[in-house]
Amino acid sequence: MAGVTTNPATRAACARVLERLERLYTLGGGTGANRPGLGRAEQEAHDLVAGWLEEAGLAVEVDPAGNLIGRLVGSRPDLPEVWTGSHLDSVPDGGRFDGALGVVGGLEAVLLAGAGGPLERTLTVLAFRDEEGCRFGRGLFGSRALCGRLGPDELDQRDADGTSVGDALAVLGLGPLEPAGWLVPAPAAFVECHVEQGAVLAARDTALGVATAVVGVARGEAEFSGLARHAGTTPMDARADALCAAAEFVLRLRDAASAVEGAVATVGRVDVEPGAVNVVPAHVSVSVDVRAPDRERLDAVLGAIPEARVHVADPVPMSAGPSEALRRAIADAGLPSVELPSGAGHDAMVLAAAGVPTGLLFVRSLADGASHCPEEETSGADVAAALDVLATALARLAA
Ligand code: GLV
Ligand code: MN
Ligand code: MN
Repeated sequence: MAGVTTNPATRAACARVLERLERLYTLGGGTGANRPGLGRAEQEAHDLVAGWLEEAGLAVEVDPAGNLIGRLVGSRPDLPEVWTGSHLDSVPDGGRFDGALGVVGGLEAVLLAGAGGPLERTLTVLAFRDEEGCRFGRGLFGSRALCGRLGPDELDQRDADGTSVGDALAVLGLGPLEPAGWLVPAPAAFVECHVEQGAVLAARDTALGVATAVVGVARGEAEFSGLARHAGTTPMDARADALCAAAEFVLRLRDAASAVEGAVATVGRVDVEPGAVNVVPAHVSVSVDVRAPDRERLDAVLGAIPEARVHVADPVPMSAGPSEALRRAIADAGLPSVELPSGAGHDAMVLAAAGVPTGLLFVRSLADGASHCPEEETSGADVAAALDVLATALARLAA
């Protein structure tokens, strides 16, 4: 592992992180990370990581939403804690680093920060549940539950098999969830470490960056109805084809996002019924994911698709204190200071919106910034640099 870090403790920590990420990567089978939120493989990941937290001497707890919490108790447990962490669920055939790096690396950074003896504040590692939202649609589930930001219909959201969030929680022995959440006492700070998932840091030729803000994300779906009729005997001008209506919607959404600077929109899932080669589609449901740096631009895109039902997570700036702690630690490591916005959603946006001073550390992506796919990559050297920087920032925030 070539890199800027020569500290043997960091090198050993980095080797553990890479080995553990590889173990997590294989859990759900398939050709990539397959750990859908509130499912079996995500649970296996939580169990595995809980064992690593315990092995490291942390006090382990699981909250009602299934978020995993490990505490390195400080000399002043009465003071608000300092948190780090991310998520362990993944998109279908996702990468090794998305989310898992912030949990497994967060543990090592906490241990490095506390290696010189207990700090004043308790340092806490968290693994939030179902950040991606690929299964039930909305995502950021664990952090929103904790911060009291679930919708009133949240437990009724269903996956493709008809299982509701409430059913999935019951299978895992989780809940009941207090609607107001349980962010009391609130931590003094939350710092999430995440692979960049873009190509900015690679273009700037540097390992680490600090996020300025997380984009606004609207997620939801649109439904189209037609008439199921014979594909061979129904003339073209006598059809009500739901998929053709959906196709027009997809292109309208693409054009709307293309017309708004900084906005992006994706239809990543299409369900067609009855789904037969020789039947005109009668019902189509498409997923909708729209993102923009501010609410005005998000609304400008959403205005073009009034038929979509969406759930919006507003754009959130990251906070001054933890961001400054990260910038200082990066400077201490002899690295340049690079700031960049996040086009991906993160649990950090939920904590920040709930008033927790929050920072987001990005680790350079390789492979042209490929993410949400098995090609997602970063280097051992960059992971090692991130562990050092995160440990330094956490130690300062906890002192
Ligand atoms: C999470 O990775 C998201 O931005 O969708
Ligand atoms: Mn992701
Ligand atoms: Mn992520």
